[in-house]
Amino acid sequence: MKVSCFRPWIVTLAAAALTAAGCGLTRTGAGPAGSPASLSGIGPITFATGELDTGSYLPSLLAQWNRAHPRQRVTLIRLPDDADDQLAQLVMNLQASSDAYDVMSLDVIWTAEFASNGWIIPLSRSLFPLSEFLRPAVETAMYHGKLWAAPFTSNAELLYYRSDILARAGVRPPKTWAQLAELARTIAPKFGLWGYGGQFRAYEGLTVNFDEAVQSAGGSILSPAGTQVTLNSPQARRGLAFLVSGFRQGWIPRAALSFDEQASQNAFEQGKLLFLNNWPYVYGQASRPGPGNVIAGKFGAEALPGPQGPGSSALGGANLAISAFSRHQRTALAFIKFLTSEAVERQVLINGSLPPVWTRLYHQPALVRKFPYLPVLERAILSATPRPEIPEYNQLSLAISSSVHRALMLKESVGVTIAQLSRELREIIRNG
Ligand code: GLC
Repeated sequence: MKVSCFRPWIVTLAAAALTAAGCGLTRTGAGPAGSPASLSGIGPITFATGELDTGSYLPSLLAQWNRAHPRQRVTLIRLPDDADDQLAQLVMNLQASSDAYDVMSLDVIWTAEFASNGWIIPLSRSLFPLSEFLRPAVETAMYHGKLWAAPFTSNAELLYYRSDILARAGVRPPKTWAQLAELARTIAPKFGLWGYGGQFRAYEGLTVNFDEAVQSAGGSILSPAGTQVTLNSPQARRGLAFLVSGFRQGWIPRAALSFDEQASQNAFEQGKLLFLNNWPYVYGQASRPGPGNVIAGKFGAEALPGPQGPGSSALGGANLAISAFSRHQRTALAFIKFLTSEAVERQVLINGSLPPVWTRLYHQPALVRKFPYLPVLERAILSATPRPEIPEYNQLSLAISSSVHRALMLKESVGVTIAQLSRELREIIRNG
């Protein structure tokens, strides 16, 4: 069958099928779909990305690009902080076939949804030095055997701790969740602190924290292929019971029920928390003393605890994708190649303390001196558990975060929560 390709701005619903079938929407000549030869459209572009961790490094990179490309200037479109709100804004525009966003920073959990809806175009693998990148990061950009975005930053949560307080108490950072609970319960109150904080508001961040608790107790939410719900297990109940006991016993403060990344970071920087579970960008920000930060130089970061020793984080991160509706896809690709180059990723690490996808940046002595946790972080990323790579991921996650939040508010028992949530997830997967 001959497949004809549309100009991007007259794309209709049929585009979804064509794109999913591997048809570069603006394909003009030789070269596989998603290769430079296949992409057309040179001109100004926009870059849509979440706000949370971009302030420290992005403006100077954009200025650098714009100086070198006066006819292909990039304009930043800031999306909300919260991953769920970012997704809602992107989806609303893409469902209307809007060309407002040329390059989009996609959370690693969205690849399947964006690819299967035909909102982004597949990219030739030969465009990027993928073998130099951390393998788990590359896998998050793949769907049904194709590359749909360029890995940009990876992510694994770390355990931040107040090194000054632990030293005064004469104890070492905890290696297991049981040790963490013990120190949070006994040491923190002696120093007038809350014990432990993470992301416990009902949104994607809570799904991440729940996922970590479940996997750290030896359980899982779905089977590896994402086809079966495996949540209804004693291990998953133990994982949730651990977090619930924190709220019940008070070593996780009730205030944490409304913590997202920023609010939990603020509490840590204001000197209110002994332990914090958060992403690596917090390291850079918390190291800069300022009016709201009293803990610069007084904290450390380690791998998340596990049942017996270092545990595993959920795999996070962001990939850069080209909108199927962009009119300047060739420029979009050039911009993505710029942002994912080794030199730029180095700057993103130095200025934003975001985890690069270039493996060798984790081993450069100068960088390890500046970010002593880099070797720990690399291991954390390599052992992190990906969240399910399925188009219905967002529905799944909304169900998880809302029922887990009810359990953390002590409104529903652990057993009932896990049983009901398992039923809901089965329903979502069945109808997906
Ligand atoms: C971070 C992670 C992302 C995750 C989000 C949850 O941005 O990189 O993968 O979904 O936090 O809030």
